[in-house]
Amino acid sequence: MLNTTQPKEVFLADYQAPDYLVDQAALTFELASDMTRVRSVLSMRKNPQGQLNDCVLDGEQLKLISIKIDGRELQGNEYQCTDSALLISSPPDKFELEIETEIFPEKNTALEGLYHSGRLLCTQCEAEGFRRITYYPDRPDVMAVFTVSIVADKVLWPIMLSNGNLDGQGQFDDGRHWVRWHDPHPKPSYLFALVAGDLYCQQDSFVTASGRQVQLEIFVDPENSHKCDHALSSLKQAMKWDEEKYGREYDLDVFMIVAVNDFNMGAMENKGLNIFNSACVLASPETATDNDYYMIQSVVGHEYFHNWSGNRVTCRDWFQLSLKEGFTVLRDQQFSADMNSAAVKRIDDVNQLRNLQFAEDAGPMAHPIRPASFIEIGNFYTVTIYEKGAEVVGMIKTILGEQGFRKGTDLYFERHDGQAVTTDDFIKAMEDANDIDFSQFKRWYTQAGTPELTVTTHYDSSANRYHLRIEQSCPATPGQKEKQPLYIPVAMGLLNKQGDAMAMQLEGEENAYPDETRVLIVSEQQQEFTFINVATEPVLSLLRNFSAPVNLSMARTNSELAFLMANDNDSFNRWDASQRLVINVLMQLVESVRAATVLTVPDEIIKQFSLVLAKAEEAPDLVTKMLTLPSENYLAAQAKPADVDAIHSARNHLKRSLAQALKQQFTTLYDKLNSTGNYRFNADDMAKRSLKNCCLDYLLTTQDPMQVQRCLKQMKQADNMTDTLAGLSILVEYEGPETEHAVRAFYEQWQHDRQVVDKWLAVQAKSSLPNTLVRVKGLMKHPAFSITNPNNVRALLGQFCRNNPVNFHALDGSGYQFLVEQILQLDKLNPQIAARLLGALNSWRQYDEQRQQMIKQALQKIAEQPELSSDVYEVVTKYLAV
Ligand code: PHE
Ligand code: ZN
Repeated sequence: MLNTTQPKEVFLADYQAPDYLVDQAALTFELASDMTRVRSVLSMRKNPQGQLNDCVLDGEQLKLISIKIDGRELQGNEYQCTDSALLISSPPDKFELEIETEIFPEKNTALEGLYHSGRLLCTQCEAEGFRRITYYPDRPDVMAVFTVSIVADKVLWPIMLSNGNLDGQGQFDDGRHWVRWHDPHPKPSYLFALVAGDLYCQQDSFVTASGRQVQLEIFVDPENSHKCDHALSSLKQAMKWDEEKYGREYDLDVFMIVAVNDFNMGAMENKGLNIFNSACVLASPETATDNDYYMIQSVVGHEYFHNWSGNRVTCRDWFQLSLKEGFTVLRDQQFSADMNSAAVKRIDDVNQLRNLQFAEDAGPMAHPIRPASFIEIGNFYTVTIYEKGAEVVGMIKTILGEQGFRKGTDLYFERHDGQAVTTDDFIKAMEDANDIDFSQFKRWYTQAGTPELTVTTHYDSSANRYHLRIEQSCPATPGQKEKQPLYIPVAMGLLNKQGDAMAMQLEGEENAYPDETRVLIVSEQQQEFTFINVATEPVLSLLRNFSAPVNLSMARTNSELAFLMANDNDSFNRWDASQRLVINVLMQLVESVRAATVLTVPDEIIKQFSLVLAKAEEAPDLVTKMLTLPSENYLAAQAKPADVDAIHSARNHLKRSLAQALKQQFTTLYDKLNSTGNYRFNADDMAKRSLKNCCLDYLLTTQDPMQVQRCLKQMKQADNMTDTLAGLSILVEYEGPETEHAVRAFYEQWQHDRQVVDKWLAVQAKSSLPNTLVRVKGLMKHPAFSITNPNNVRALLGQFCRNNPVNFHALDGSGYQFLVEQILQLDKLNPQIAARLLGALNSWRQYDEQRQQMIKQALQKIAEQPELSSDVYEVVTKYLAV
C-alpha cells in the first residue's frame, strides 16, 4: 500500500515555454532567525512564446502577507493560493508584481531555501529551493537581473552577502544595518544566494587576461581562518586555467566563497557567491588529507567553471542538467589532470565510474544522461548525470580532437551566452564548428545502461593480417528494452612481443597510421577491422585511456594481462590490466571459498606484484593504484549472486598472501618512504605518502603485532592528517586494545574539529570487524553526531551502509533494519539526504535470494509509510518495481 498523495511524474516531452518572464527582480530581506520577511518586486511581462493568460508562480512553505500589481493590492478573488503555487488570473501584458512573504529559517531542516547552519543564515536554491523564499516562476529558463537588499542586526549578522557587485550599504538607528547587491548578469532563480553571519574573510585578488582586477574573498567561521589558503590558491589556478584552456574570463568585480557546515551536497555555483560544504573547501596539513586537498582543488575548480558552463549559458529545464554538470565535470577533470598527474586522475575517475555509475546504470534507477522523466529532480543529481555525462562530453573531445573540441566550445559559449539551452544546442555547436554529423552519437543522451563491447581477434600469419571484431550490445534498463547501436570511439594500439608499438594500417589505407594510438569508431552492432602488413602476432591494447564508458568483454590469459601490465605504453591500460588480472584471480578464490576448498594464490600474481614493487619508486602514484585491489562492491557487481562474505574472505586472503610473500619488499619500501620532510601538497609527495600507506595496509593484514606497532608509531609521529588517518583506518581492521586506545586518543586530540571528527566517524563505520553496527549505533548517541547534519550522516550512516558490505548485508538482517529506521527518521528532517542514503540498496537484486527477501521487506516497510517525501517515494517505488 503506497501513500495516497502520490507525487507526480514530469516529462521532458511536456516542456512548454514559460507564460510570463521576469526582467528585473528586486528583493529585500529583513532577516531574523525565527521569521524572515521577504519583499519581492518583479518586473514581469507576458512571454510571446507562452500559452496561458494566467500567471502561475511557484511557492512552498511560504506565508503570504500581501500581493500587489502595479501598486494596487489584490483582493482575495483576484488570485489563488495553494500549498505549491500562486495563480494570478490574466494580469496585464506588462506589470510590476510586489509580493511580501514570511519564511521560517529556524524550522528549515531540509536545507533548501533559506536556512540556518549554526548561527549563519544561508540559502540553497538549486534545483527548486527558491520557491521556498518567495513566489516566483522557479524554472531555469526564466532569467532576471537581481538586485538584493538585506537588512539585519549588525551584531548578529555583520556580514551580509548576495550575488553580483556591492551596490550600497548603510546603518539604521535601531542597531540594524543594510547592504544592497546588484548582479548585472540575468540569471535563473536557482543561482540566487544570500549569506549572513559573523564570518572571517580572507582576501586576495586576480587580474584577468584582459587586465581587470577581481577581488577574491573566502568567508569562514573565525576558528577556520587558517584553513583558507589552499582553496584560494586553487581558485586562482582555476581562473587562470579557464582563460588559457577555454578562453573564459571572469565577469564580476568580486568572487566570493562561503564555507557552511550544514550542506546537502558538495558545493554550489551561485553567481559570484559560491557556497561550499566546509568539507570541500577548508584545509590545513594537520586536519586535511591529501585526498581532501585534491578534492578541494577540483571542487573549487568545478564551481568556478560553472560561471560559464552553467551560469552564463544555463539549462532550459532540469532534464538538461547534464548540459552543465557533465561538461563542467569534464572541465574539472581536465583541470585536475593538468595540475597533478593526468594518469592517476584518469584512473581515479574510471574507478569511480565503474564502482558507482556502472552500478547505477545496471540498477532500478538507471536513466540516460538526459532523462525523459522524473518525479523529484533532487534524485537526479547522480553519478550518471555527472560522471557519465562527463564521459560523453569527453568522447566528443576524443572524436573531434583538442582543437576541434575547442572550436565547438567557443561557438557554444558565443552563440548561447545569456541563454537557457538544451543538450541538443550543445551538440549542434559541436557539429557546426566541425562540420560533422552527430545524429547517431546523440543516442548517448537518450539511452541508459552501460554498453558492452565483445571483442575477438584473429591473426592470420600467412597473410600478415590481424582481424579485430567488435560487437556492441547494451543491457535492457527499466522502461528501455531495446537499444540501438551507439557511436563509440575506441582508442587502441598494437604491441609486439618485445612490448614495442607496432605500425597500424587498416585494409584500404595507403600508409600506416602515424601514431602509437589510434581511435576506431564502432557505430554498428558488429564491426570488423582488418590490419594489414602485420608481421608478427600482436598483443592488443584496447580502450586506451578508457576512451568510452563501456564494459569490455575479451578473453585474456593471465600472462597476456601480465604482459600488458608491464609493457603497454598507455598507463591507464597498464593499470587496467593489473585490475583484470587481480579480478581473474579473485573470482577463482571466491569460487574456492564458496566450495570450501583450499585457497591457492597463483605464483603469477605474486611475481607480477613483486615486479611492480621493484619499480615502485619510478612511478609511485601508478604503482599504488596497481597495488590497490578492486573494492568489494565492484567485485560484488561482477559475480552473481554476489556473495558478500566469500568476496570479503577471498579479497582478504589475497591481500594477506601477497603481504606474506612480499613482506620484505613492502617493509623496505615503507621504511624508505617514511621519511618525507615537512608536509607539502604536491603530486610527488602525495604519491609517496599514498604508496607508503598502501605498504602499511598490506603489512597489517598479517595481523603481526610488530606491524601494529609500526602503525601506532606512524600515527604518533605524523605531522599531517594523511598519515595519521591512514594509520587509524588500517588499525580499525585489527581487533585489540591498541585499536580501542588509538580510536579514543584520536578523538581526544581532534574533538574540536568537526571535519576531523567526521573522518573519525567514517573510519569506524567502515571497519569490517563484527561489532561495527553496535559501534555505529553507539556513535549516533555520541555528542559528535547530529542526525540533522548531512556530513555526520554521510560519515557514519553513509559509510556503514555503502562501504561496509559484510556488516551492512549481515545475514541476520540487522543492517537493513537499521537502514529502514534511519530513512524514516531522516525523511521527516531532510528528504534529499534520506533518499541518498536509500541509494545503498541500489544493487539489491544482485544478492542471494535470502538477502533479497529481507531487502524487499525493508523497502516495503518504507513504501507503506504515510507522508513519504517525493524524494524517498520515487526511489523506493522504483526499487520495488524491478
Ligand atoms: N550544482 C552543484 C554542483 O554541481 C551541486 C548542487 C546541486 C548543490 C543541488 C546543491 C544542490 O556543483
Ligand atoms: Zn556542478
